Amino acid sequence: MTQPKKLFIKTYGCQMNVYDSERMAESLGGQGYVTTDKADDADMILLNTCHIREKAAEKVYSELGRLKPLKDARPDLKIGVAGCVAQAEGEEIMRRQPAVDLVVGPQSYHRLPEMEAKVRSGQSALDTDFPAEDKFDHLKGRPKMKRAPAAFLTVQEGCDKFCAFCVVPYTRGAEVSRPAEKVLEEARDLVERGVREVTLLGQNVNAYHGGMTLAELIRALAKVDGLERIRYTTSHPNDMGDDLIAAHGEVPELMPYLHLPVQSGSDHILKRMNRSHTAESYLKLLERIREARPDILLSGDFIVGFPEETDADFEATMELVRQVRYGYAYSFKYSTRPGTPAAERPLVDPAVADERLQRLQGLITSHQREIQQSMVGREVSVLVEKKGRLPGQMLGKSEYLHAVHIENSTAAIGDIQRVRVTEAKTNSLAAVLV
Ligand code: 5AD
Ligand code: SF4
Repeated sequence: MTQPKKLFIKTYGCQMNVYDSERMAESLGGQGYVTTDKADDADMILLNTCHIREKAAEKVYSELGRLKPLKDARPDLKIGVAGCVAQAEGEEIMRRQPAVDLVVGPQSYHRLPEMEAKVRSGQSALDTDFPAEDKFDHLKGRPKMKRAPAAFLTVQEGCDKFCAFCVVPYTRGAEVSRPAEKVLEEARDLVERGVREVTLLGQNVNAYHGGMTLAELIRALAKVDGLERIRYTTSHPNDMGDDLIAAHGEVPELMPYLHLPVQSGSDHILKRMNRSHTAESYLKLLERIREARPDILLSGDFIVGFPEETDADFEATMELVRQVRYGYAYSFKYSTRPGTPAAERPLVDPAVADERLQRLQGLITSHQREIQQSMVGREVSVLVEKKGRLPGQMLGKSEYLHAVHIENSTAAIGDIQRVRVTEAKTNSLAAVLV
């Protein structure tokens, strides 16, 4: 028997990249690769890159610079760059770092086996096309390996919204939905491997239109035997259809957690961001969602220091956050993405932007703590994902996506256990069986 080759994948960025890295590992599994968590003894190193924020490409080039000595020592080692930086930079990557053998954009992962064969024969391989075929189709018939109870499932890719700061419409391309029957097929397959919860992924997932709306897809998934929990991310406020809002009230499998980025609380800035909604229309929308599902936990994204943002604009963002009280929220300092419309505009003083970011993060953290604290004494359901460090302790996620430690648990991995929260720690909740 030949020795399996070792594959090391380093994943940057969003959950879709995590999903894609798993798929790439599976697809190269067919070429005789097993994954390793050590770059040092890998036969192939893949960097699955992210282009969403600051100096992404430069960071990839410095990482490649660090990998080069490995390749100098072992010329057999193959180095590849995947993901959104690969898409954006293309050939430039091989020009700037000749140690790179393979560059593959996010729409071409199904071509990895051929590309691998090409680099093994000593050539280089580049593919940053947006081909028409389904990049996940080749996964049929793969061996049924056991999976962790919570999994990601990509249902949609790309985005047509063109927010003025964002590279996604350029790196991931136009919105494309996977046909619903393919998604359902993958979900059934995941359940057979032990999965109990799926998070449907898409850059603009609630614009899903794979022959059904997202709400219809969720209702169909809820009927899959053994699939207990459904989540989806990331959504745009303008695509929160009535049927999706209704589903939050009607489908018990749909978890009471929603990531709905608003980016800013200032109408002037929202307009300049090309968001095509206002702070008020967003708040009204949340009201309707909370009517459908009163206990829903909300999460969001914010950009501070967007070009032209004044103190008053920033205060409007703070005010919106105070009104919404997010259970989680991610805030970022604006950074220029070359090629996007906002890249041409004058920047806010970086010191001012830093100070705003700190204030916003402080406010969000205080809400987050209060919400965590308010969980104490409440009963929640936990999908048990792994063993804790202490004997009898199990770890998992509540329906609100809080990390929960269950003490003296009787559960097995994959069980959903009813527990009472006894304590809120910084990043998790402690709970006991009820
Ligand atoms: N600068 C800062 N943050 C950005 N995001 C996207 N593009 C930029 C940028 N150029 C943030 C948005 C988005 C999240 C995934 O990343 O808040 O929702
Ligand atoms: Fe980018 Fe999201 Fe706006 Fe699409 S909706 S352009 S992915 S920020």
